[in-house]
Amino acid sequence: MALTGVLRPGHAQLRVLNLEEGVHHYRDVLGMVETGRDEQGRVYLKCWDERDHNSLVLREADRAGIDFVGFKVLDKATLDKLEGDLRAYGLATERIPAGELLATGERVRFRLPSGHDIELYAEKQAVGNGLQVLNPAPWTKASENGIAPVRLDHCLLYGPNIAEVQKIFCDVLGFYLVERVLTPDGAGNVAIWLSCSHKVHDIAFVEHPEPGKLHHLSFLLESWEEVLRAADIMAMNNVQVDIGPTRHGVTRGCTIYAWDPSGNRFETFMGGYQPYPDYEPTTWTFDGLGAGGGLDYPQRKLHESFLSVVT
Ligand SMILES: [Fe+2]
Repeated sequence: MALTGVLRPGHAQLRVLNLEEGVHHYRDVLGMVETGRDEQGRVYLKCWDERDHNSLVLREADRAGIDFVGFKVLDKATLDKLEGDLRAYGLATERIPAGELLATGERVRFRLPSGHDIELYAEKQAVGNGLQVLNPAPWTKASENGIAPVRLDHCLLYGPNIAEVQKIFCDVLGFYLVERVLTPDGAGNVAIWLSCSHKVHDIAFVEHPEPGKLHHLSFLLESWEEVLRAADIMAMNNVQVDIGPTRHGVTRGCTIYAWDPSGNRFETFMGGYQPYPDYEPTTWTFDGLGAGGGLDYPQRKLHESFLSVVT
């Protein structure tokens, strides 16, 4: 098997200011499937085409933002090995017992220098995508509810010391650098896009003084028509749009950034290219992010909110 180690981003726990408002947004407007609620009052959702029990966990809190992002790894042996590798690298790890998140096995949690909690886990209950495994139909009724993305695709996180974050993901967890934006003086990176797969990003970071911040959680659509339909659905439901529909120069993704009712930014997007680990990373200058169209290729400007609004 070619894809081993860390497989994909599997779950994210998001803080919302009002739980039922958040559930309405992610279930009824974005169109995820609610799969459970736990004793702590957290609500679990998945995108229609995801096969594991949950990918988004909503927790009511008095400030918005992200609690943690979890990556699914191949198996328990991989989980043990990667925990050992993280410790050998000098990071403290914590084991969270199976079942603390619904339908999810034991998790290994560690904190990045950027202030974000990242988890690895090997097991989450497979509940399927509503289609048979034998001779399936191409889609199901759940794929017509709301915006209806197929999966939680990636997140963009803001925090300090992304140079060290890159080392942890690339040297310990087997990710590779796909694209980057240089600092204004060209001496380092102000933004990095990292992949553990054939996707143009599985996680991304922007250098930012405040630790632990969320820029956006991103959900994948399958066509540009679906992105435009998402824009219509956002307008019909008074969802506040930040940028788009447009195309990023970085990753070539065709995107909308918008805010959930708590002020967490989310993205619905399609496209991008398929990188391999042997590709030379694509580099953008700091000016290239704005005037070069890295953020918004048609408008070629650095929208002020991109660098300033995070939760
Ligand atoms: Fe994104």
